Amino acid sequence: MNLQLSYCFCFFLLLQLPFSTNGQAYKNVSLGTSLTAAAASGDLPWTSPSGEFAFGFQQVGDAGYLLAIWFNNIPERTIVWSANRNNLVQRGSKVQLTADGLLVLNDQSGTRIWTRPELGGSGAAYGAMLDTGNFVLAGQAGDNLWQSFDQPTDTLLPTQNLNSGGELIAPYLEKNYSDGRFKLILQDDGNLVMYTTAYPLTTSNFAYWSTQSSIGSGYQLIFNQSGYMYLVTRNGTILNRVFSNSASLQDLYLRATIDYDGVFRQYVYPKTASGGKRWAMASTTSTNSIPSNICLRISYAVGSGACGFNSYCELEDDKRPNCRCAPGYSFYDQDDERKGCKKNFISQDCGHPSQEIDNFEITDMPNTNFPHTDYEYFKSVDEDWCRQACLSDCYCAVATFQNGQCWKKRGPLSNGVTDPTIADKALLKVRKDNRTEEIAQKKSAKKSDRSALIISGSVLLGSSIFLIVLYAFFTNRKKQKLNLNLFYAHILLPRPMNVTYLPCIL
Ligand SMILES: *[C@@H]1O[C@H](CO)[C@@H](O)[C@H](O)[C@H]1NC(C)=O
Ligand SMILES: *[C@@H]1O[C@H](CO)[C@@H](O)[C@H](O)[C@H]1NC(C)=O
Ligand SMILES: *[C@@H]1O[C@H](CO)[C@@H](O)[C@H](O)[C@H]1NC(C)=O
Ligand SMILES: *[C@@H]1O[C@H](CO)[C@@H](O)[C@H](O)[C@H]1NC(C)=O
Ligand SMILES: *[C@@H]1O[C@H](CO)[C@@H](O)[C@H](O)[C@H]1NC(C)=O
Repeated sequence: MNLQLSYCFCFFLLLQLPFSTNGQAYKNVSLGTSLTAAAASGDLPWTSPSGEFAFGFQQVGDAGYLLAIWFNNIPERTIVWSANRNNLVQRGSKVQLTADGLLVLNDQSGTRIWTRPELGGSGAAYGAMLDTGNFVLAGQAGDNLWQSFDQPTDTLLPTQNLNSGGELIAPYLEKNYSDGRFKLILQDDGNLVMYTTAYPLTTSNFAYWSTQSSIGSGYQLIFNQSGYMYLVTRNGTILNRVFSNSASLQDLYLRATIDYDGVFRQYVYPKTASGGKRWAMASTTSTNSIPSNICLRISYAVGSGACGFNSYCELEDDKRPNCRCAPGYSFYDQDDERKGCKKNFISQDCGHPSQEIDNFEITDMPNTNFPHTDYEYFKSVDEDWCRQACLSDCYCAVATFQNGQCWKKRGPLSNGVTDPTIADKALLKVRKDNRTEEIAQKKSAKKSDRSALIISGSVLLGSSIFLIVLYAFFTNRKKQKLNLNLFYAHILLPRPMNVTYLPCIL
């Protein structure tokens, strides 16, 4: 009977499937139609005929809504395009294809934030979400007045080409879609280039990859239906192959995205296979990520490198760059590692007669370099000499040693990279005992809020006295179980210590 029931249930589910996944029967988006941003049971998005792509609002955490296009048949709802990535709208905001044929996004107060087509001229006759993932506004004659494919954000889809002057800007973080720190641009001079952005601006900063096409030659970046991506000249000649991974759109969803870590990747997602469905790299054998090792690519006199200041970049087994803090340093923000790391210890005191050498030690970091911050160079020295030279110099944050050569480097540590191809060994200077730092941190924190200190100080003092009294009480009651005493000893012992030093810094 159970079996029959579940059978029945499955059949019922199957019956529902075609309707529930697509939301509604496909139709063009006609003039006057609108969608409102709302949680859960809001309007159904505008879907493509196959139901594979949808246009509408996606909620981004608690921050608001993105007007976006996404893969609609996979649980991840991967976003491939958005209109307002730097300007999320709140619940109640509305997108409408107006009676005069404009696609308009109004925020909840009715203020217009985004309109397409941008310039004057005739409005659209209808809109349509196509099966390619392209949202188009079509004129009376079916001509394209505007299409999302012409204004990509961070992703290209098969049949979507990047034209001269077109660019992709990486998102800030994996789930924060604002303009980030990296971009890919097909320059007017015909070169396809990846740059760091001068974050928080989106202007190009330093190039870290390019096709090095001869001036004026590259005209269009093609992403064709077989999954190949290549740069062509105006007459169609292939100049550079970017991705050469053949993929069948019948079986796979496919996209090429510049990720928040600055790598341009080609991803596939199986349409049918039941188990282990996720976005994976398009190929395990040929190029699927550009550049192949971003850690080694971004290294300039200005800026922090592929990771933030005081951190270093290392390619993981999955070929993704990983940012780690140098020993003795920790992330400012665990959720945003590229913001860099802060020192956990007080720097060497240059005024100290002995430079406090005894309080510092060198941590070895093999196959590691921090380029572009050298201020002194020595040759024909040995490693121990280099070590001592850095230890006894308060300006030295790290030294690198290779083959009898020693470079002293200043902070903040930048362009840090660990890679088997690097012959240098970094000799990183850290304070041996970091308790001093903790006290100093407390000192500065307390200074800024004396009254809070006095209150918390007296609370601590009070509670410590209370605990001491408690302790006395229990010890007086004699041998309550031995382990109980041990337990209290653990709690109590650190407290009086706090009390002894707190008044000192008051
Ligand atoms: C969408 O509109 C165009 C032009 O009016 C028409 O050719 C096409 O058949 C329409 N498609 C649907 C599904 O309504
Ligand atoms: C994304 O990150 C930027 C920069 O830190 C921040 O200003 C913005 O509020 C973040 N957006 C979301 C949705 O968290
Ligand atoms: C895509 O490009 C590759 C390489 O140039 C070519 O072999 C393939 O036939 C193209 N596919 C389509 C559908 O045009
Ligand atoms: C296309 O243009 C390139 C130079 O941009 C030239 O070398 C090549 O011969 C041209 N090919 C054809 C088929 O015209
Ligand atoms: C400083 O001390 C904390 C715990 O007290 C420890 O976790 C950290 O690793 C220490 N840092 C250094 C640089 O020794």
